[in-house]
Amino acid sequence: MKILVIGSGGREHALCWKLAQSKQAGIEVFANPGNPGMAKVATCVPGEPLAAAEAVGADLTVVGPEAPLVAGVVDAFRARGRKIVGPTASAARLEGSKIFAKNFFVQSGIPTARYETVDDASHARLALGRFGYPVVLKADGLAAGKGVIIAQNAEEAEAALGTLKGPMVIEEFLRGEEVSFIALCDGKDAVPLAATQDHKAVFDGDRGPNTGGMGAYSAANILSDADTRMVMERVIYPTVQAMDFSGFLYAGLMMTADGPKVLEFNVRLGDPETQPLMHRMKSDFVPALLAAAEGRLAGQTLEWNPGPSVCVVLASAGYPGAYETGKEITGVEAAEAHGAVVFQAGTRMLHGRLETSGGRVLGVTASGLDLPAAIAASYEAVGKIAFNGMHYRQDIAAKGAVR
Ligand code: AMP
Ligand code: GLY
Repeated sequence: MKILVIGSGGREHALCWKLAQSKQAGIEVFANPGNPGMAKVATCVPGEPLAAAEAVGADLTVVGPEAPLVAGVVDAFRARGRKIVGPTASAARLEGSKIFAKNFFVQSGIPTARYETVDDASHARLALGRFGYPVVLKADGLAAGKGVIIAQNAEEAEAALGTLKGPMVIEEFLRGEEVSFIALCDGKDAVPLAATQDHKAVFDGDRGPNTGGMGAYSAANILSDADTRMVMERVIYPTVQAMDFSGFLYAGLMMTADGPKVLEFNVRLGDPETQPLMHRMKSDFVPALLAAAEGRLAGQTLEWNPGPSVCVVLASAGYPGAYETGKEITGVEAAEAHGAVVFQAGTRMLHGRLETSGGRVLGVTASGLDLPAAIAASYEAVGKIAFNGMHYRQDIAAKGAVR
């Protein structure tokens, strides 16, 4: 069976790495367009996704990033009778528009923060009077993690209105622990993946601007079985049923004193959450993915290793702001010598030399018997890697280790 993974980041490298270990007979993994890390475990194919799938004769395609989903890649594949894991463009609006998502939560009875939608800054000023501080302002469209501002007071809210243009959501600030909850769905049924926690802020102690994610971990104690069932019943199943949702549904949750509340939906796997998830997944992933694409997920389960997995992201100097590329990367093989895996995100190979090509460059991922051991294994591997300007958080999963 030929499996094609669409994308070129750390999430897609982790997927390819996992799929390449499948025990199913005759699995061949392809990546479109892929990256140097993915090239170690898959055959990279350039071009448009559908053309790439047809060129290699892909039996199953899995989509990584949101952009092709929002652009309708799943609709195009299905129109040609090709099996693909992902939501239709219509369902992908759950990620593409915050306003669409919030209205959907309320219509479907999905718990979320109290909110109002406004068309512009002057309406926003009126609405702000109906909320206390801190308050959260969210731009409507896809904003690569930069469209959300938490204002502590009226001055900060006014400054936010200078940055966020057009329609937006204003919502109540929620307190609690954030959890990334991802389920694989087939239009009727859904199977939860293990819970993960992301680290969005660029600096230790959750300080500094938000990024796409500076590290993530997966551990059995992030969410109890009872909470997992509650999230499936209150959040995931209502969405799958209302939208015939297929693909990965990622609920960014705040676990509040009143139970889980949805901060946002993504219609794909998380990045970097996928890196520790793939490292920790015990099951062969191919049967579940195929079942999802064929609408027969009912009865499927995914097994996880008991030990946690931790992924530390190594970023370019300046990220999430402007950064330079083209810095030589050394130490990847040494980092991988003791069981850690270095998932590549912003890398390229030039004249046989591995160098940086993006903001988030590598995701160094390792497991351990307990969280302190997994953290130690990841940071030991991180210590072998170097590139000019490399920076990373020192406290990935640290809060989980003391819980
Ligand atoms: P979002 O893109 O909606 O997930 O927001 C990005 C980040 O902003 C989240 O990961 C939270 O850390 C924070 N955030 C968003 N909405 C809220 C809220 N209502 N209360 C508290 N924090 C929030
Ligand atoms: N790590 C957050 C996301 O994938 O959206």
